[in-house]
Amino acid sequence: VHMKPVRKVVFPVNGLGTRFLPATKAMPKEMLPVVDKPLIQYALEEAAAAGVTEMIFVTGRHKRAIEDHFDRYPELERELEMKGKEELLEIVRGIVPPGVRCIYIRQPVPLGLGHAVLCAQPVVEDSPFAVILADDLIDGKVSTTLQLIRAREEQGGGSVVAVQDVAPEETKKYGIVSVDDQTQNTSRLRGIVEKPDPSVAPSRLAVIGRYVFEPEIFDHLAKIAPGVGGEIQLTDGIASMLNESPAFAHRFEGTRFDCGSKQGFLDATIHFARKRGFRIG
Ligand code: G1P
Repeated sequence: VHMKPVRKVVFPVNGLGTRFLPATKAMPKEMLPVVDKPLIQYALEEAAAAGVTEMIFVTGRHKRAIEDHFDRYPELERELEMKGKEELLEIVRGIVPPGVRCIYIRQPVPLGLGHAVLCAQPVVEDSPFAVILADDLIDGKVSTTLQLIRAREEQGGGSVVAVQDVAPEETKKYGIVSVDDQTQNTSRLRGIVEKPDPSVAPSRLAVIGRYVFEPEIFDHLAKIAPGVGGEIQLTDGIASMLNESPAFAHRFEGTRFDCGSKQGFLDATIHFARKRGFRIG
């Protein structure tokens, strides 16, 4: 059977970033830099490394800095060129790799992550696509998105969510899955719930912000009711899809930083700074 390759990614970037106030009052949280690169650029690079060429941002008010970041900046380029700053020029010109297109679509009202993904349907259309939450920064040998795409190929198609084992008390921060066989790194997904209390969590396998979806997910996102927090949850859309379209959970390889929290953001900064040869402490 012919399987359509994954060439599109959706970045939901319409979140308020309240956990980083005051820094995020006028600046999108996705633009917070780890060393010198905004979170959203790490995300785009991960997608590009997975062979994705259509970068679809679901954006909103106060998020224009993201569009500007991935746009050309002729005056700056001319200035760097004139001053012979070749290295910086290359960095600025290389923000969007060759062959990659950035597309922006608005989420008019913040109705939840599932709703944000649904907003991308007119651009994604009938293709399989990845979703990356830039808050979850992952460093590893192989692009996490590519790991999910490979898992999908090995299964002959279907949707795939990235999972990681978490401590029992952490289940209420994540989507938690139940799978056929927890000892396998890729296993058939049988259930998924958003932010369960440890007492009712089906496992300790937590969804990290990386997904690959078959386009069928849209039908489900369009029909589900608001869930936890009154939001249209991506988790509920996945749960609704499970009986009709196969999905898998894949335990990825890599170090993940929760850059939606200050602690995780600091850990990421220290990790990447060390890697780049900066002195810490
Ligand atoms: C979202 C998802 C959740 C997932 C998490 C990963 O939650 O709703 O299922 O586990 O991302 O980071 P959020 O962190 O936006 O509350």
